[in-house]
Amino acid sequence: MAIDQRAKTRTAELQAERERLVARGIATSPLFVERAHGARLTDIEGMTYIDFVGGIGTLNGGHTPEKVVAAIKEQAELYLHQCYSIAQYEPYLEVCRRLIACHPGAGPHKALLVNTGAEAVENAIKIARYHTGRQSVICFENAFHGRTLMGMSLTAKAMPYKKGFGPLAPEIYRAPAPYPYRGIGTAEALAGVERVLKSQVDPSGVAAMIYEPVQGEGGFHPATDGFIEGLVELCAKHGIVYISDEVQSGMLRTGTPSCIERWGVEPDLITWGKSMGGGMPIAGVTGKAEIMDSVHVGGLGGTYVGNPISCAAAIVALDEVLDPERQAASVAFGAKLRARLEAIASRVPSIGEVRGLGAMLAIELVEDRETKKPAAALAAKTIEIARTRGLLIMGAGVLSNCIRVLVPLVATDEDVEEGMAILEASLLAASATV
Ligand SMILES: Cc1ncc(COP(=O)(O)O)c(C=O)c1O
Repeated sequence: MAIDQRAKTRTAELQAERERLVARGIATSPLFVERAHGARLTDIEGMTYIDFVGGIGTLNGGHTPEKVVAAIKEQAELYLHQCYSIAQYEPYLEVCRRLIACHPGAGPHKALLVNTGAEAVENAIKIARYHTGRQSVICFENAFHGRTLMGMSLTAKAMPYKKGFGPLAPEIYRAPAPYPYRGIGTAEALAGVERVLKSQVDPSGVAAMIYEPVQGEGGFHPATDGFIEGLVELCAKHGIVYISDEVQSGMLRTGTPSCIERWGVEPDLITWGKSMGGGMPIAGVTGKAEIMDSVHVGGLGGTYVGNPISCAAAIVALDEVLDPERQAASVAFGAKLRARLEAIASRVPSIGEVRGLGAMLAIELVEDRETKKPAAALAAKTIEIARTRGLLIMGAGVLSNCIRVLVPLVATDEDVEEGMAILEASLLAASATV
């Protein structure tokens, strides 16, 4: 039964409760989950959905992975929470050991654990400022770094992330990022960064540069070849800390533990989150030991950081991320997804571009392939229609005209085929209505 055909159901009742009880500012869809496994979830009406969103990139290992669930149960019998600053525990160290193994380069590296991606970004900036004794931060067009004060200040989309929430954090400067589909390549973007360092802020005042190797929320823009290398070179020249924000692109999403390692550079700091917890809230920062150790004792931390249950889940998730067989499987999975999306693009003229890396892919929708006029209404309609047909997909892009695909890497061929068929049919149905 399609969701919009249901009369007064439990979903409608709960939706009314949601309107009454939950703050409006949290975007939601009219769907209440009963259970989920692998790449599928079932709602309280018994309707099954194929999940192409994966908790926004948090479920690379799928819903309720058996080993993660078992580790959570085992840890829950021992202790739930300590606060790491009061009583330490080994699972925290085991997560750090594995997270450090994900950081490219010879090291030595160190780690710290927090709760969310935004908190990882906050801490990385704090560490970079402390280490350099400087204040300014350079970020990029299309960036998304979270919803905290620093996170939203670094983020490049005003609505809905910044509008009405000012004043934003000071000393933030934004440079162009590669977007070849709309005319910005490596040379233009790097020239833009150089311009910022001439016209807006002197390099001697810059603490950090932060960039996502595949910009996620901003539209799934992969770094073009030479761009990250150029940024890292500039940072090394001027003593700026280079931060790779891998919250969405890391953890096997693009085939390797970190996405940046494909360019053979060693970032000073990396922010991690989302899928590192196998579905539990945990995030972290790794980095060169001399940078990570600059801050005085007590300068970093928090009540819940590195919660033991989340650590137990993260140990299992990280073991999979570090497994070469899983890495190869992720590469093959990404290639399959891309081929499937490109086949759809050959039949659906409103797809202007298929882009991304590995299994981190999106389609950009346009009204016309010549003019490339963004088709934001079409993206929204497609997402809505897909949901009524049993597929969860999500938008992206500063222009709100992209649809992202973040299928759990454990999805079966059947999940992918069925989901892609619904995506194509929904695109065509939406094109007929907008
Ligand atoms: C690249 C990036 N950084 C930071 C964040 C913020 O993470 P969180 O929502 O866990 O705070 C996100 C979330 O989507 C992200 O994609």
